[in-house]
Amino acid sequence: MLCIVIMDSKIKELTQRLTDAGQPHLLQFYNELSPGEQAELLHDLQDMDFQEINSFFKNATATSSSSRHEKMDARMEPVPREVLGSVTRDRDHLKDWEVRGLQCIAQNKVAALLLAGGQGTRLGVSYPKGMYDVGLPSHKTLFQIQAERILKLQQLAEERHGSKCCIPWYIMTSGRTMEMTKDFFRKHNYFGLEKTNIIFFQQGMLPAMDYSGKIILESKGKLSMAPDGNGGLYRALGTQGILDDMQQRGIQFIHVYCVDNILVKVADPAFVGFCVQKGADCGAKVVEKTNPTEAVGVVCKVDGLYQVVEYSEITLATAEKRSADGRLMFNAGNVANHFFSFSFLRDVVQKHEPQLQHHVAQKKIPYVDAQGQLIKPDKPNGIKMEKFVFDIFQFAKTFVVYEVLREDEFSPLKNADTQDGKDTPTTARHALLSLHHRWVLNAGGHFIDENGRRVPAIPSAGAAGSVTDDGNGNLKDGTDLPIKCEISPLVSYGGEGLEDLVRGREFHPTLMLDENGTHELVKNGV
Ligand code: UD1
Repeated sequence: MLCIVIMDSKIKELTQRLTDAGQPHLLQFYNELSPGEQAELLHDLQDMDFQEINSFFKNATATSSSSRHEKMDARMEPVPREVLGSVTRDRDHLKDWEVRGLQCIAQNKVAALLLAGGQGTRLGVSYPKGMYDVGLPSHKTLFQIQAERILKLQQLAEERHGSKCCIPWYIMTSGRTMEMTKDFFRKHNYFGLEKTNIIFFQQGMLPAMDYSGKIILESKGKLSMAPDGNGGLYRALGTQGILDDMQQRGIQFIHVYCVDNILVKVADPAFVGFCVQKGADCGAKVVEKTNPTEAVGVVCKVDGLYQVVEYSEITLATAEKRSADGRLMFNAGNVANHFFSFSFLRDVVQKHEPQLQHHVAQKKIPYVDAQGQLIKPDKPNGIKMEKFVFDIFQFAKTFVVYEVLREDEFSPLKNADTQDGKDTPTTARHALLSLHHRWVLNAGGHFIDENGRRVPAIPSAGAAGSVTDDGNGNLKDGTDLPIKCEISPLVSYGGEGLEDLVRGREFHPTLMLDENGTHELVKNGV
């Protein structure tokens, strides 16, 4: 009896809150639901701040009109030369940066932070993207490759400085990916890392809304919810106690990166060292954008403040602008690898986070109509609101940009395989095999073909191994595949330490190099 009374008063109070916020339709089908569904809906609604959600909607939609984008184009300036470091132009400094970064790692000052709360919608999988196997000879997943890079980097720093060290790995998931991610790591024994040094945390979710600001119901008893964007990181760092954890561990520098780049140099010592030597509080890694329509954001200045203008937010006219040297004017392609000092991150979380605006993405969102019918729209009918991880660049006091080579460091997995597809499992796999092939050549190894002839180091067009960039960030083969060669991250983090294993030797592809040595696989299983 008491229970029913409490329940009634809870519903009353909730109904009032929903009415005040203009969202009473969320309980429209309440009486038709089973007791279980009712309890679930109440649970979902109970902790939501509808006034705050309404204000997010109001602010986000007010600042997302297309005229604003056009105006923004006029306010954009390219990154100035003086904040730019480059692995090609500044080759002489690379070693120093790397040494500095390794020193910071050895002193336990560096953490890696993985953004893995996305839903992998474009790839079309129902599990977290990090669990994806792109079909390498080893069949390692993205999570395993990243974990092994961390292990190797710890080992390199330990060897250089003679003391044990650790790179804590913070992994942001969302309500949709948390349990599966944790289970996967548990099942694989944390890929050899210390369980206590992998810290999972969860970003927030926001409801999808129709164009008039009404929250969308995806079924009679369920709101249409989505993660609040990778910029949801900053709120989560505070609410989930992650900042405190970093402070307790004495972390001073954080490398934040996205899950989908198979070539990612997790906690890259050269990038960290560059940012530290420049006294930066915030840094971004970029590759040269060569095609105006490539789906990468560009790092630039807007009204004198650093920002990434997303591919969905730049007009074609601006994306196509070229400098006198013929290169794209806005060519600092964001590879979603960022450096933050701990104090900067703390200021962001404690002071600036509420000022960050949500970006609006128009979507086709399935909904139940007033009659309770499920409708699957064929054109956009509402919006999702997301904060972006790079929206805090504007608060940096010393911002730097670090340019790397695309073929060495950037091949994201975004889409499912299709003929000539961009950013697919095939392009990611080829990018990794091709990089490792080059590592072997650089270390003095050779490959021989099925007739026993050496494959030339610089392949002719059309030969296996002649993987080139199509200018759009995608690898194109002459015929079919690059030389199949995979090197375990446990053997080499960035191409180092291979000479003793390969110099002067000839290998048949498929070559695999792991902790147990070199293996030539008889069967080409890629
Ligand atoms: C992202 C960058 C873009 C860059 C491109 C390079 C952002 C906002 N955009 O674009 O500038 O050029 O990568 O590949 O960073 N994620 C979350 N929570 C979310 C949404 C996403 O953690 O709510 C994570 C994803 O798991 C992924 C990363 O953020 O690791 C990027 O998300 P995705 O939607 O793939 O970004 P892109 O649009 O490809």
